Amino acid sequence: MNRFRLMALCVLLVAPGLLTAGTAQPWLDATRTPESRALLVLKAMTLDEKLAMLHGPMALPLAGVPIELSPLPAGARWSAGFIPGVPRLALPPLLETDASLGVTNPLGIRPGDVATAMPATLALAATFSPELAYQSGATIGSEAHAKGFNVLLGGGMDLTRDPRAGRNFEYFGEDPLLAGVMAGEAIRGTQDQHVISTAKHFALNANETNRNSLDARIDPAALRESDLLAFQIAIERGHPGSVMCAYNKINGDYSCANPWLLNGVLKKDWGYPGWVMSDWGAVHSELDALQGLDQESGEQLDSRVFFAQPLAQAVAAHRIPQTRIDDMVYRILRAEFSTGLIEDPPAVRQIDYAAHAHIALAVAQAGVVVLKNASTILPLRADIRRIAVIGGQAQVGVFSGGGSSQVTPSNGAIRVPIGGNGGMSHYRDALYFAPSPVIALRKALPVASVLYDSGAFPEDAAALAAKSDVALVFVTRHEMEGYDVPNLRLPQGQDVLVDAVAAANPHTIVVLETGNPIEMPWLPKIAGLLAAWYPGQEGAQAITDILTGKVNPSGRLPMSFPESESQLPRTKLPNFGIAEGVAVSVDYTEGADVGYRWYARRGIRPLFSFGFGLSYTTFAYEHFKIEGADTLKISFEVINTGTRAGADVPQVYLTATPMGSDLRLIGFSRVELQAGERRWIRLSVDRRLLARYDEVKHLWRLPAGTFAAQLGTSATQLGARQSATLKRVTFADK
Ligand code: BGC
Repeated sequence: MNRFRLMALCVLLVAPGLLTAGTAQPWLDATRTPESRALLVLKAMTLDEKLAMLHGPMALPLAGVPIELSPLPAGARWSAGFIPGVPRLALPPLLETDASLGVTNPLGIRPGDVATAMPATLALAATFSPELAYQSGATIGSEAHAKGFNVLLGGGMDLTRDPRAGRNFEYFGEDPLLAGVMAGEAIRGTQDQHVISTAKHFALNANETNRNSLDARIDPAALRESDLLAFQIAIERGHPGSVMCAYNKINGDYSCANPWLLNGVLKKDWGYPGWVMSDWGAVHSELDALQGLDQESGEQLDSRVFFAQPLAQAVAAHRIPQTRIDDMVYRILRAEFSTGLIEDPPAVRQIDYAAHAHIALAVAQAGVVVLKNASTILPLRADIRRIAVIGGQAQVGVFSGGGSSQVTPSNGAIRVPIGGNGGMSHYRDALYFAPSPVIALRKALPVASVLYDSGAFPEDAAALAAKSDVALVFVTRHEMEGYDVPNLRLPQGQDVLVDAVAAANPHTIVVLETGNPIEMPWLPKIAGLLAAWYPGQEGAQAITDILTGKVNPSGRLPMSFPESESQLPRTKLPNFGIAEGVAVSVDYTEGADVGYRWYARRGIRPLFSFGFGLSYTTFAYEHFKIEGADTLKISFEVINTGTRAGADVPQVYLTATPMGSDLRLIGFSRVELQAGERRWIRLSVDRRLLARYDEVKHLWRLPAGTFAAQLGTSATQLGARQSATLKRVTFADK
């Protein structure tokens, strides 16, 4: 090295502050690895610059504070969050927006700004289609980019342990493989648009009641085999730049200050290279940095801005080493470089909403689950004359879930602020996405007369149903972030309504627009049943397409539907009615036996099982075979034995291991087949789905012996059984 270059390097290392934008900025060289770029720029940063990257505000007025008194930080956009950049070093700010169902416009803060409102994540999960998950993530990512954002707070993916939990519609259901694969693909889709995605809420955000003071208690090994395995699979597949830690505690420590969870599981065992950002208002001390938290988000919501002055003082007092600060910043920088934030900065531009609506429609169509079709009432006959549409505000639109994920759709909505109390009450809106099912049905069935009744008076609805060929009852339940629903029943007298209509007309079809299962005391009396979830802005069209048979249903349940709360691990909603802020706990004693595994272990038959869903064609499976090598290798053939094209989702469940009987989804595949068409499916099983986690040794143990699996159409409809022998093996996470 010549003398000049040596001197330059010394200046760089010794006096980072001297490096200005005018000097060479080698970290801008995109041919270098993200790791080396991050290291280079880190060396050029002052301590103040580093500390400034570790916290940032919510770029929104606090609830009740007028916008004039809430200035937008320089360089920010009105949205969920903002972290300033370092212009001197060409480091961009982090412009953060919610989230998984589309780019949000919280409280209408950006007047007139709309976005493609995708179906609820639960509907996406019901597609069992990694391709659709990718496309959905990519569509949302591209809209975020075109609205000037470079971080999407997406990737919501906690497992459903309680079908009353208010955020389940934002997540992918109860199975770790399904949730992990689908979330991973959605994240990958977003990040391919050069927008960083999170995976959230890490971890065990399984109930909303008193979420900020809830201690979620669980056996750590069981958590590794369930919720954490879902995150692990998603992270391996999607490589999210950031993981957002949750509000709740896990086994006594806040998720955002949980050394076992963050330093141990995530960073050490899994080798996660990204950064941990806090949820908004989830930081409790600057010393959380020592437990693995890298960044404080939505800082006005914390009792102090811990990662500003207090963190700086802790560093000065050597309570937090400088190396830890460097690690925190390095993790953020590495993610920025690896996701292409610098090379392809977000830029406000026009969005092709019509094109994106096709993706929303495709997800909604594939996510509707037909649960009952007695006497093949579906698809509706083309010569049908009179259709009664009842309830659910089906004359204005389809329902959506509430909270920070709620999107203002691109094709219109009606908003009803429903009020109430609690920390999230300012978000408590009932939002109906246009167009309405009534309009979509009238268009699809022009010769039929489609009449609407609000369902306010069951007698009126029944009278209309009695004069109709078919009665379609739309039922809704408002579910949202920050609140659990108190039980599994339909609110506002809708059970009475369905009963009355079904008594008046045996050709009654119920369409569920909910974010969770519900109890259905009227199920034997109705002919048809669809779970449409919160189907997004194209929901009315998707429901109509399924009802009329334009689209062959292919959705499968991503969560079991119990008969009643008495079948649940916790028969009453934990902590119901307790004042906000009071410390509470929930014991997740079911451990890794989440959802269908719980029912199987207890010998309980739920109303509808995980994986269940009907089609208008029929499928058969042949040549099911399992071979044992390093893991189980599965092959079989799927045949469409019916008369029309359709998609099937064959599922393979582990049913027995050398340690005894078990039930775990170990493989699935969504297959589109023409009538009469056959296709071979080959799957290689992720060994972690066969193994048990040893929390003492920090490794997975696969015992020697015979593993049996069955090929089926749901967790309780299991067909051919095959088995294979595996050798004993232990393996670590990475
Ligand atoms: C939610 C997060 C969201 C954040 C920012 C929090 O209340 O839990 O999911 O990303 O707000 O809006």
